[in-house]
Amino acid sequence: MIKRIAVYPGSFDPITYGHLDILTRGLEIFEKVIIAIANNIEKRSLFSVEEKKEMILEAINGNKNVLVDSFDGLLVDYVKRIGAHIVIRGLRAMSDFEYEFQMASMNRSLNPDMDTIFMMTSKDYFFVSSRTIKEVAAFGGSVSEFVPPLVEKRLKEKLLKR
Ligand code: PNS
Repeated sequence: MIKRIAVYPGSFDPITYGHLDILTRGLEIFEKVIIAIANNIEKRSLFSVEEKKEMILEAINGNKNVLVDSFDGLLVDYVKRIGAHIVIRGLRAMSDFEYEFQMASMNRSLNPDMDTIFMMTSKDYFFVSSRTIKEVAAFGGSVSEFVPPLVEKRLKEKLLKR
């Protein structure tokens, strides 16, 4: 059983410094972290999985301890398939808690070998979400404090040239 691998799943639409903060701290605990982009048919994404991957790869800057992957279907099935047992999620505020609690409980009931570890988002990013970033960027606001430069560029290309 490889315990030193963790899966960090999410929509990453797009990746933010909040995600990267959780990733960096996850790497203090785990040898390898797999960023798993959910190919989530229910959520309408601004970016394609390929575009998300490109931005994530740029942001991780060749870090050999991070792998970037995507998955369809249930997270528990993906985690089982790759032989992992731990999922990392960032927790921002109380509003995240209920959803995360439900999801972790459901996932654990579907796969008792899998556990979810929560990390509190750093104070600088607890109000940052991909959704708010997209809204600010769509109205021409600056998001450079919250996302890597390539993400800011891609957001401008997508949202301001409509
Ligand atoms: O970044 P997000 O949108 O908060 O991430 C949510 C995500 C992708 C981790 C979650 O929706 C997920 O795991 N989707 C895959 C489908 C699944 O396993 N759903 C069961 C959750 S109870």
